[in-house]
Amino acid sequence: MATVLVVEDERGVREGLCRAVASAGHTAVPAAGLAEARAELANGTPACILLDVRLKDGDGLVFLGELRATLAPDVPVIMATAYGDSERTIGAMKAGAFDYVTKPFDLPALLASVERAVRQRELSKAVPSAASVSEVKSPEGTLVGTSAAMLAVWKVIGRAASSDVPVLLTGETGTGKELVARAIHQHSSRANGPFVAVNLSALPATLIESELFGHEKGAFTGAVQRRPGRIELAAGGTLFLDEIGDLDLALQTRLLRVLQDGRYERVGGADVLTSRARVIAATNKPVKPGDKGATLREDLYYRLAVIEVELPPLRARRSDIPQLVAHALASSPARAVSEEALAVLQNYAWPGNVRELVHVVQRAAVMCGAEVIDASDLPETLRAPGASYAGVNDGDGPGAAYANLPLRDALALLEKRMIEMALAKAGGNRAEAARILGIARPQLYTKMDEHGLAGRARE
Ligand SMILES: Nc1ncnc2c1ncn2[C@@H]1O[C@H](COP(=O)(O)OP(=O)(O)OP(=O)(O)O)[C@@H](O)[C@H]1O
Ligand SMILES: [Mg+2]
Repeated sequence: MATVLVVEDERGVREGLCRAVASAGHTAVPAAGLAEARAELANGTPACILLDVRLKDGDGLVFLGELRATLAPDVPVIMATAYGDSERTIGAMKAGAFDYVTKPFDLPALLASVERAVRQRELSKAVPSAASVSEVKSPEGTLVGTSAAMLAVWKVIGRAASSDVPVLLTGETGTGKELVARAIHQHSSRANGPFVAVNLSALPATLIESELFGHEKGAFTGAVQRRPGRIELAAGGTLFLDEIGDLDLALQTRLLRVLQDGRYERVGGADVLTSRARVIAATNKPVKPGDKGATLREDLYYRLAVIEVELPPLRARRSDIPQLVAHALASSPARAVSEEALAVLQNYAWPGNVRELVHVVQRAAVMCGAEVIDASDLPETLRAPGASYAGVNDGDGPGAAYANLPLRDALALLEKRMIEMALAKAGGNRAEAARILGIARPQLYTKMDEHGLAGRARE
């Protein structure tokens, strides 16, 4: 049993939350605003704080900063808000929020978060924590999306930005991996340093080697002078290794050494240099050890994937499509899409994900020459049979995908999809996913194993 401080100015919501907390066997201490919260904190330290973002007597995010810095640095804070967008979510996580939940509340999920917070509080009592608060800077490219799957991604970005460890971004082509890499950089303490990107699939291995590590004068024909590598150029900033799944094996070994002890030499050089770059890698290929066709050395994978972010395909978060369309139209002659056009856009499977959506919408805007894009302005391919998400084997809804399969396989596929959706909805939390599915946790583990989904989610 633990004490949970519930800071919420709306009486009905506050009482509802307190009842829920009490029903989970904890003691709920209500506070109607920041002043009351301060008074309660002076009385004693709770195990967890539930904090509304918008309060009548102040800003919950500012108060979060105060809590982390001085008032209650070790107490996990769960932020609650009616607004779930990338900026706020990243900002709150970066400012040290334990979790960020959106209204209307999913009470079981909220209570699961409270349980995790209380457990973490128990664990962290022994370890002193150095809380740091910093300004949230706006990223260069706007990250659009408020679906549960993307909110889970924004949370990981916020956590990644406040640390310096390597990050591995996975996901299909066009899901926004580069955009996310830039966002992590821009939200990190290295934001004023360089963001240096290298595409590891674009060049032959020998050239990649000298691009990455640099070379000395005379190292090879044409090396007329010493040149610093991208690792060196990224000092104090972020090195973005794009398409890491395509990196040659010999170079993987060299890169592993950089990640292990930060050391490397320029091509043709004897001086041992030290890397001062933060590494973010991305790939749309299978790289996880054990995955079919995985191309990364196992040890390199584990060095890179200290934080792993899997960007969900667009068809698994179709609720983000209207916002993405509006975003794509922001600087175009057309200002909107008709309802029919939106329906077509929301039904298509988007194998090229957000990149494809942005292209289609921007092209249609130019071609239609009107204020509103209609369904007839969209390419025919979007309406072709089999183009809809339900027609793709990989889709996220029951439908034609299962029509040609024997019943047993169709059921297995449906089960796999349901588990994937539950995991996405639960932000990778298995206990939560099991609850959504209405099965016991060990049963979920067994099924995840069966479907090759083990290792995908984190506790
Ligand atoms: N959440 C998002 N909000 C706004 N724009 C997005 C989002 N995700 C992707 N985009 C846009 O979609 C395009 C593709 O994104 P990006 O280049 O980051 O994809 P990628 O995952 O690196 O793809 P690839 O694997 O093909 O390199 C970009 O124009 C990017 O700005
Ligand atoms: Mg990319």
